[in-house]
Amino acid sequence: MSIIQTPQTPGSQPFWVLNTQNTSYAYGVNELGYLEHVYWGARLPAYSDYQGPGAYARRITPERYSHEEYPAWGDYKFNEPCLKVRFADGVRAVFLKWVDSAVEHGDGVDTLTVTLADQHYPLQVKLVYRVFEAYDLIERCAQVVNSGGEPIELEQVLSAVWEVPRRDAYQLTTLNGKWGGEFQIQRVELPMGKQVVERRRGASGFDSNPFFALAEAGATETHGDVWFGALAFSGNYKLVVERTAFEQVTVSGGIHDFDFSWRLDGGETFETPVFVAGFTEAGYGEASRLLHAYELAAVLPQETAHTPRPVVYNSWYVTEFDVNFENQMKAAKLAARLGVELFVMDDGWFGQRHHDRAGLGDWTVNSDKFPEGLGPLIQAVKALGMDFGIWVEPEMVNPDSDLYRAHPDWVYHFPNRPRSTGRNQLVLNVSRPDVQAFIIDFMDDLLANNDIKFIKWDMNRHFSEPGWPDAPAGRDREIWVRHTRGVYDILRQLRAKHPGVIWESCSGGGGRVDLGVMPFIEQFWMSDNTDPYDDLFIQEGFTLAYAPVTRMMWVTDANWINGRPFTLDYRFHLAMMGVLGMGADLTKWPEADLDKAAAYIAVYKEIRDTVQFGQLYRLRSPRESALSATQFVSADGGESLVFAFLSASVFGEFRTMLRLQGLDADASYQIDDHITLSGQALMKRGLPLALKGSFVSQMLRVRRV
Ligand code: GLA
Repeated sequence: MSIIQTPQTPGSQPFWVLNTQNTSYAYGVNELGYLEHVYWGARLPAYSDYQGPGAYARRITPERYSHEEYPAWGDYKFNEPCLKVRFADGVRAVFLKWVDSAVEHGDGVDTLTVTLADQHYPLQVKLVYRVFEAYDLIERCAQVVNSGGEPIELEQVLSAVWEVPRRDAYQLTTLNGKWGGEFQIQRVELPMGKQVVERRRGASGFDSNPFFALAEAGATETHGDVWFGALAFSGNYKLVVERTAFEQVTVSGGIHDFDFSWRLDGGETFETPVFVAGFTEAGYGEASRLLHAYELAAVLPQETAHTPRPVVYNSWYVTEFDVNFENQMKAAKLAARLGVELFVMDDGWFGQRHHDRAGLGDWTVNSDKFPEGLGPLIQAVKALGMDFGIWVEPEMVNPDSDLYRAHPDWVYHFPNRPRSTGRNQLVLNVSRPDVQAFIIDFMDDLLANNDIKFIKWDMNRHFSEPGWPDAPAGRDREIWVRHTRGVYDILRQLRAKHPGVIWESCSGGGGRVDLGVMPFIEQFWMSDNTDPYDDLFIQEGFTLAYAPVTRMMWVTDANWINGRPFTLDYRFHLAMMGVLGMGADLTKWPEADLDKAAAYIAVYKEIRDTVQFGQLYRLRSPRESALSATQFVSADGGESLVFAFLSASVFGEFRTMLRLQGLDADASYQIDDHITLSGQALMKRGLPLALKGSFVSQMLRVRRV
């Protein structure tokens, strides 16, 4: 049982300890009736370790010591509030006191719901804690209930605040970047004040990702206390990391309050997204593995979570918008010969979509390009032994489209203001039920009338002029939440109607990678930047939070971003560290390269269980060494894979002993059918490795004998 509720003594206030395998999280009700945080970190053995209720009582100077589990705004405390509201009479101060609580035991997941209520107004907040014992993680969310008759305006509703113990110093890790350079790891000593990780453009995004890690100074991949978490939301969010002058450190997070407001009518409940967080004493690597395991077991769609992902070919970089039966089949035949399992036709197949300036929104097959519809192409692809997949961008419209001409009011806009385009497109107002119905209808038709097994769902621009002139009264600023929820609802309905389809989330690359959309998709397109050296950095940051089974990357020809060539080996090794895809112009490849690619794909099929469902160890970072390496260990421990990449050797061959992780110390392992070493030797002495040249790589298979 992972949730322990005490108050053993009558009259004393309730106190809860949420235990996972290696962590404890504790809070209780103080003598004034407020819910106060007490501890989060390594598991403590005894209830008495928490010094009992009373010891954590609210102090006389609460601005120094406000440890409320869910601080509401309005009284004498000045930290980031989780809740800020305006009641119908204009009052804007909230006082939340404990009312009751309930524990529910589940299979590996226990749930504690603690209800708080305002002392005067009909407002309740239910704090929900789901404790994942095996993964040392706790999911938190809040349900705000208006149990009265008059509406309450919500101005800020965060999912949770996480408080970490007092330490002399903390290292804050965030994921930042840009288009083509996503998931850059940024690590700074946490300064005093507030650090805000945020997104205000309608979708999660490149420049920041809803993930944080706070670690003790000097923590590494393998050592040190790390508190970490991720918010499950794809729209505007903020994570506020605050360090006060009194050394209190907290991370508050949830839906962004920027331009947000929500009218909560009587009888309605507003539920926040989940904010999941955990703790480990074993460094950033273990933090990532806990998140990866949790994503596989509890976040990804469970009907496909444990099924090996197919090898994909995508024709985008080859044919761009100029798709037709002949050029797709040329690519498909070669892809099939290499062992590809899923052939994806990208943008350009519909409406007048000859370039990115027209056609978006007109989801009927272009009859010049495909006179008999998609049927013949799909059949021909299937006859080659592959499944067929297709690209869509349902939330968008080109002004030059029949859809926009018919429904100019379906996009976000303000009267008397221009409608700014991005990539020549506007954002459809997915907050509107009629727009949602339109998307569901055309997607449903597409999937019902064609044997499509894969959808790449793209989203290529962010929101501007976010107006909804004919919104129901007082609801126009709800778009920031309604749009994202609308996308989730559409995906939920389509998945239910069309089981067996694999979904990929793309947003001009890795612009919508988060735990919010993860329950509805199998994988993420990591980046439009397919330069495999750049991708080592992107991949490192991606895997900090997200499981390799969700990472799609293609082997392409020279990518235009850096314009430099790489060997086929290097490109394959990079792409094989997740879900493998190809996006190269195979018609230009020499026979020898096609054969080599076929061999790599065959090997990938042998090892993909280990890559997709094993444990990942970041052995060496490309940020720190010319030689970077990643290791995977299969779920049963029988196989391990090491991918090593050398950017450039200087002063001769680069030799090293690469210390592996996660092996059985007592077992023997054979390396690539050559030498045999004990697990202990591989982990303590290391795997001998020698590489020479520029952008060279090696994959080693380490098998238990
Ligand atoms: C985005 C995606 C690309 C491709 C194009 C199509 O940029 O990231 O992979 O699908 O759209 O227009």
